[in-house]
Amino acid sequence: MVIGVPKEIKSQEFRVGLTPAGVQSLQAAGHVVYIQQGAGLGSGFLDSDYEKAGASLLPDPKAVYEKADMIIKVKEPLPAEYALIKPNQILFTYFHFAASQALTNAMVASQAICIAYETVELADRSLPLLTPMSEVAGRLAIQFGAYYLGKPQGGKGKLMGGVPGVKPAKVLILGGGVVGTQAAKMASGLGAQVIIFDTNLARLRYLTDVLPANVQTEFSTQHAIEAHLSTADLIVGAVLLHGAKAPHLIKKEHLKQMETGTVLVDVAVDQGGCIETCQPTTHDHPVFEVDGILHYCVANMPGAVPQTSTMALTQATLPYALQIANLGWEKACQQNDALQKGLSISQGKILKTEIA
Ligand SMILES: NC(=O)c1ccc[n+]([C@@H]2O[C@H](COP(=O)([O-])OP(=O)(O)OC[C@H]3O[C@@H](n4cnc5c(N)ncnc54)[C@H](O)[C@@H]3O)[C@@H](O)[C@H]2O)c1
Repeated sequence: MVIGVPKEIKSQEFRVGLTPAGVQSLQAAGHVVYIQQGAGLGSGFLDSDYEKAGASLLPDPKAVYEKADMIIKVKEPLPAEYALIKPNQILFTYFHFAASQALTNAMVASQAICIAYETVELADRSLPLLTPMSEVAGRLAIQFGAYYLGKPQGGKGKLMGGVPGVKPAKVLILGGGVVGTQAAKMASGLGAQVIIFDTNLARLRYLTDVLPANVQTEFSTQHAIEAHLSTADLIVGAVLLHGAKAPHLIKKEHLKQMETGTVLVDVAVDQGGCIETCQPTTHDHPVFEVDGILHYCVANMPGAVPQTSTMALTQATLPYALQIANLGWEKACQQNDALQKGLSISQGKILKTEIA
């Protein structure tokens, strides 16, 4: 199969759909890979890295779309790309169709085969192509949270781990899924006192077993969370209710119970946020203040670390990309139930009722 990787054109998007290692694997399986010049630069990959791995370079997106049977990218196609897509061309990328009727209509009109990363789903209902980005965001939540706790940034002026003789910072993590677990690992590694809340008892048992002694688990109730608000230094929102808006576990009136300079990082902002006062922010202006409390609510946190995020994403997508390339999309989706769940629009037909 001929595979094409265009450069991402969405603002502040520095990831790329395939690493040189991915190119090498596809090439070894007998496929031909074309990369747009400069596509990997934002993720730290030079054109020459791709050439060494066996890809050929093309000067612009038009040339890439013209040649490819399958396009592998990161973000959904933007209007400037719609006209480049060919009937029966496979598009393997994040789409988030439910968020854009214009994109959905354009992909129906294109007659392309759209396989959406975000809906590829395993039998246990986990989302293998979303998980890597949650891992990145969970770890970043602590990195950014620790930075904004600094006085010059408007925080309380506390060091996460304290020092001998001085208490560490107290970190509350709401939700013990992928984001919450990674956040707990980072915060505990820095020496903070961590409390992680979840409503899933089995999950709490697991977390108690695997996380270090400076992480406590608590069953998530309003009462339990409120009891810690006056002493918390950093609060991470990481709740997800599948297919629903996140519940507001921290409401505006709760801010009054917190000390000035407390930092809130609401990773769940992309699902409406679990902190009522959170509004989506960007990497250009990541934080705002309400009642003396700092809010960090960047909706695409992994974009801050494209080198790591590209590697994390493509190591998860590559096995699926290989299967599609080896078998063709129809056979691959027949043989792999997870991949079939990702098949969203095909040759002008919407295949998922949620999107329709
Ligand atoms: N901002 C970003 O850049 C970014 C990046 C990746 C993921 N996210 C978002 O982060 C959120 C979490 O993702 P995830 O992959 O960790 O999800 P997940 O499904 O792995 O974990 C969610 C956890 O929340 C728990 N939960 C549900 N209700 C709760 C409650 N009332 N109190 C406490 N816990 C509760 C669930 O039991 C589950 O363990 C999602 O909204 C996801 O879209 C954002």
